[in-house]
Amino acid sequence: MSDRRDARLSGNEIYLEPDEIIVTKTDTTGKMTYGNRTFYKLAGYTEQECIGKQHNIVRHPEMPRVVFKLAWDTIKDGREIFAYVNNRSKNGDNYWVLAHMTPSRNTAGEITGFHSNRRAPDKKVIEESIVPLYDHLLKLEKSAASPKDGLDASYAYLTELLASKKQTFNEFTLSLGG
Ligand SMILES: Cc1cc2nc3c(=O)[nH]c(=O)nc-3n(C[C@H](O)[C@H](O)[C@H](O)COP(=O)(O)O)c2cc1C
Repeated sequence: MSDRRDARLSGNEIYLEPDEIIVTKTDTTGKMTYGNRTFYKLAGYTEQECIGKQHNIVRHPEMPRVVFKLAWDTIKDGREIFAYVNNRSKNGDNYWVLAHMTPSRNTAGEITGFHSNRRAPDKKVIEESIVPLYDHLLKLEKSAASPKDGLDASYAYLTELLASKKQTFNEFTLSLGG
């Protein structure tokens, strides 16, 4: 966790029900074009506050940037990604999800935007595997001389970790279970 608690965080975690799925869609630049009712319930924003805005409206300050870099690199390349993500609600609460993000295509096969579905993650996976990893990645990002050096350091760490496990990022995420 960060050394200084972000004033925009309440410290209160909220949870998706096991049968709930959050769905959102964006254009090719990440501006929101759709959110389902569960998204607005968890995020605490109205549809009006979100449509046309960047999806980072729910970005949690303690999420490592490298996860979003990997996500964007992957979906822009036309592939899908699975990732655990911590989100921040409007009132400062947070909620963890296991997210799937993938491109939306037209009938010609061209990427017209992106969409994402998320469900409740296994709490044990979050506590035992994801929080320690993401905290370390965040620390690497924050302690470097510049944001670019930080991202390079966390990217290198994650790449080496995956290489040592002989797994892709998606294989790693899905191998954790939940
Ligand atoms: C379809 C789609 C869904 C996304 N969902 C989330 C999300 O739930 N939470 C989040 O923090 N970022 C999400 N992002 C990534 C954001 O666009 C953004 O990259 C991220 O919040 C990091 O913000 P920053 O680059 O301003 O730091 C999503 C992107 C796409 C294309």
